[in-house]
This record gives sequence, C-alpha cells and structure tokens, in this order.
Amino acid sequence: METKRLTPADASDAARVIRCGGLLGIPTETVYGLGANGLDPAAVGRIFTAKGRPQDNPLILHIPSADWLERFCEDIPPQAKTLADRFWPGPLTMILKRKAIVPGAATAGLDTVGMRCPDCAVTREIIALADVPVAAPSGNTSGRPSPTTAAAMLEDMDGKIQAIVDAGPCAVGVESPIVDLTVTPPRLLRPGGVTLEELEDALGEVAVDEAVRRLMAPGEHPKAPGMKYRHYAPKAPVTVVKGDPDETAGYIAARMGEASGVICFDEYRGYFRGHPVETIGPAADQAEQARRIFDALRAFDHLPVTDIWAQSPDDSGIGLAVTNRLNKAAGFHIIELG
Ligand code: TXA
Ligand code: MG
Repeated sequence: METKRLTPADASDAARVIRCGGLLGIPTETVYGLGANGLDPAAVGRIFTAKGRPQDNPLILHIPSADWLERFCEDIPPQAKTLADRFWPGPLTMILKRKAIVPGAATAGLDTVGMRCPDCAVTREIIALADVPVAAPSGNTSGRPSPTTAAAMLEDMDGKIQAIVDAGPCAVGVESPIVDLTVTPPRLLRPGGVTLEELEDALGEVAVDEAVRRLMAPGEHPKAPGMKYRHYAPKAPVTVVKGDPDETAGYIAARMGEASGVICFDEYRGYFRGHPVETIGPAADQAEQARRIFDALRAFDHLPVTDIWAQSPDDSGIGLAVTNRLNKAAGFHIIELG
C-alpha cells in the first residue's frame, strides 16, 4: 500500500481513514501515534499487526475533550476531573474503568482503559470529525524508539498505513505519563511530560510503580503491561552512566571502545572526538533532552557502532521520564558514580 502524506489542512481526509477502519499516523505533542477506530476490533487488530505488538499490551484511547470520558468510562473518580481541568489537553493518560462499549481488543481484555486528550489541534479535530475515539500506541515498530517526527514514523510504517499527518516535530518528545486512578492512592505507571511533582501537587500522594525505576524480573507483572518489555532499544547495546556530568563524561571517555557511540549533553561533545556522538541538549535543559532522546537513540541504527554509552540526567521533573526511557533502552544496564 502507498502511504499518503497529509498535512493539518487535510483533517477531513484523515478522519475518513479512521472511519473506514484504516491506519493513520497522527501527530501529538508527545510522540507520533499509530491511530485507528478504537471501537472497531478489526481496525484495532490492524494496529497490533502493523507494529508487531504483543497481544497482551493494551492501547490508549484518544479523545478531543474531557466530556467524552463518560461515553467510555464508568465509576469516574473526582481526581479525573481535577487532572483533566489542569492538564488536558496535554501529555497525560488516565487509567479508568471501561464501559462495555470499549472492545476488549483495545484493552487487551482488561476492565480498565487508558484515556488521553492530546494537545494537538489537528488530531483533536480529526477525532471529532471521525466521531469515534482513536486508539493509538506510539507509531514505532514494537521495541524500537518512539517516533517524534513523521519521517521517523515512516522509517517503521511506510507502506503499512493508509496515511500520516505531518504536523512537524513533537513539542514534548517522550510519551505521556500514565496515572492509574482505579487504585488509592493514584499510581504512576509510566513517567512523562506532566511530571510526578505536578501530579502530586494536583492529587496529593501518588505512588510510583516499581517498573518505572527497575527491571521487572521474569514472572513479575507491572500494572502497565508495556513496561515489562525491553523497549526504545537501538540495535547496539546501551550503557547508562549516572552522576555529575563532568564525572560521567570523564568515565565514559576513559572506558569507551574504538567503535563506541556516545549520547551526551552538548557541553561534553569535545570529550568524544572521533566517535559518533548524538547530543541531547545542555545538561541543565531537561525539556530539550526529552525532545531529543528518541532521535538520538534512533540515529545509532544508521551508524556502525559496537555499543553506546549515555550520560544520564537526574530524576527530577521530566528527567524521570528521560531516565526511564534511557534505562529501558539499556535494559537497565546502569552505572552509578559517586
Ligand atoms: O504519549 C502517548 O501516550 C503516546 C501518544 C501516541 O499518545 N501513546 C503511547 O502509547 O505511548 P503506547 O501504546 O506506546 O503506550 C501505552 C502504555 C503501554 O505501556 C500500555 O501497557 C499502557 O500504556 N496501558 C494502556 N492501557 C492500559 C491499562 N488499561 N492499564 C494499564 N496500562 C495500560
Ligand atoms: Mg510505545
């Protein structure tokens, strides 16, 4: 199939792809998504096939406004309204109890569903025109880094989807945080653009699922099924080095092999002359690091590196999301200095 390139002016063509049961690349503020009619089990099934996604990994439903929640969810707690008022449209997914209208194909048979209202006007317009919630995982082949541009998504999906809407690079760059509101206290299953600190400010106590910070052992079941997979991984193995940036740069420079690649902060490029280097922004600019981390990981798949070393930001703010993605790309192969 030939994948059509659409622009934000083509919202009605894009909505038609969804209405007809097709697959559509959708821009969002976090990452590009692989969208289909979330109420149509056959369309949802095509998402799993195109991504090579394990069947036990549920999808998020995207809606154009919070007032759609009641159509698809029940027993909605007051915290859902609090979060929607503060953070929607925006990078936040809530786990709520689903109504029977949501097919088990979308939720991998769970009785809950992830709901998200993205901060991307054209995508909200497409969903409203299609008049169905759009199920959309990140638009990568399963296991690869998520795409933050239409070009990155086409690397994985060209020829497998009907169309993609190109709205430029994503403003946040890492996927939405997932907050489970079916448990008390609410539980953060995946960190993202709305930070843990902001969620605590809105909700009070928020538990952090163990899968956010460590590797799940075989047989352990994190609450977000997707968190158990090795993920975001370039082809070469990754080692993450945590600590003061001067020290981590020195540590990596002293140990790297002849054909090692490096992911580093802008200021440290000079430590790694002669090696393939992907910079992710200044050490102090975590928002920029979030925007660039997936591109950096993807870039190494086009370079002849034997292994990849990465400087890691700290866990504050959106840094928790950046370190989570890096750690997962590294299969939690982490060296802590100091
Ligand atoms: O920013 C985002 O959330 C992007 C854009 C496209 O919206 N979407 C995204 O979807 O990252 P995906 O499928 O790549 O990641 C969804 C994660 C998976 O780890 C999945 O297991 C978890 O959310 N999830 C989905 N529904 C869930 C549920 N009912 N209970 C627990 N975890 C759920
Ligand atoms: Mg994903």
